[in-house]
Amino acid sequence: MALKLSLLAMLLFLLLASTSKAHASVFDVTSATYGAKPDSDVSKALAKAWSDACGLPSASKVVVPSGTYKLKEATFRGPCKARIEMQVRGTLQAPADTGQLTRPNTWVGFQYIDMLTLSGGGTFDGQGALAWSQNDYHKNKNCKPIPVKLRFEFLTNSKVLDITSLNSKNFHMHVFWCNYTTFQYLTITAPDKSENTDGIHIGASTSINITHAKIGTGDDCVSIGDDSHQITVIDVTRGPGHGISIGSLGRYKEEKDVTMIIVKNCTLTNTQNGVRIKT
Ligand SMILES: *[C@@H]1O[C@H](CO)[C@@H](O)[C@H](O)[C@H]1NC(C)=O
Ligand SMILES: *[C@@H]1O[C@H](CO)[C@@H](O)[C@H](O)[C@H]1NC(C)=O
Ligand SMILES: *[C@@H]1O[C@H](CO)[C@@H](O)[C@H](O)[C@H]1NC(C)=O
Repeated sequence: MALKLSLLAMLLFLLLASTSKAHASVFDVTSATYGAKPDSDVSKALAKAWSDACGLPSASKVVVPSGTYKLKEATFRGPCKARIEMQVRGTLQAPADTGQLTRPNTWVGFQYIDMLTLSGGGTFDGQGALAWSQNDYHKNKNCKPIPVKLRFEFLTNSKVLDITSLNSKNFHMHVFWCNYTTFQYLTITAPDKSENTDGIHIGASTSINITHAKIGTGDDCVSIGDDSHQITVIDVTRGPGHGISIGSLGRYKEEKDVTMIIVKNCTLTNTQNGVRIKT
């Protein structure tokens, strides 16, 4: 009897432990509180949902349900009070015309967050076609900057998984000053001819893992800039693009070393290079 009781108690404990772990308060942008609607701009609804979720002292989840939503800009800034997840199940769409974007260098940014998870199987659609034809600053240094799609800055112990980045105007993802962060099961897509659309650029970051990504884009699939350490790139497939690059390095004085880069089991088809170092 005592044994049975303690077994029961243990089961109950396990059950409670597993539900409390799975339980995160949900902040659905389409709920009455935030009022996001498909096909309209959800910048304000998302900002409000993020700020409520981020301020919660227990685990929280911001949800963008399936559907297509317009988004002019977003900055998701921490520090948050507890672990936070952003689950994008639908499609967030940038304005096609760069002139409609409210900020010159970022469309969507995540900053100063510990234990962020970005997931959901959804799509960040940069609608870049118009911008690529204007993106000529190799030739014209004075032309207007074109925003990087997703910026991850000052993140620690975070995960970005199972999202798609489509037709970015400029770099798809820019990872700067992040530590202990993994990128898994990403799909990054833009046409061969799209200028400057690096897949994932990493700079000044330590212990970053990229695994199981499908990257096909117009510039480097993965590029690793100065002061980056312990970067692991495994099972990246697809193409086109310029391959996996360390660099460009050495353009500026005071650049720091890049150390411990591992690239393993990647299959890149129709890319300009496999792996290279650009100096
Ligand atoms: C990441 O680690 C580096 C080196 O230890 C440190 O200087 C930097 O502040 C860390 N970044 C964050 C966001 O914690
Ligand atoms: C990245 O992968 C390496 C090698 O597989 C592992 O040792 C390390 O813990 C991983 N780092 C993160 C942040 O998951
Ligand atoms: C190498 O990558 C392929 C394609 O992504 C994957 O199917 C396979 O399991 C990987 N092999 C190893 C040894 O990790």
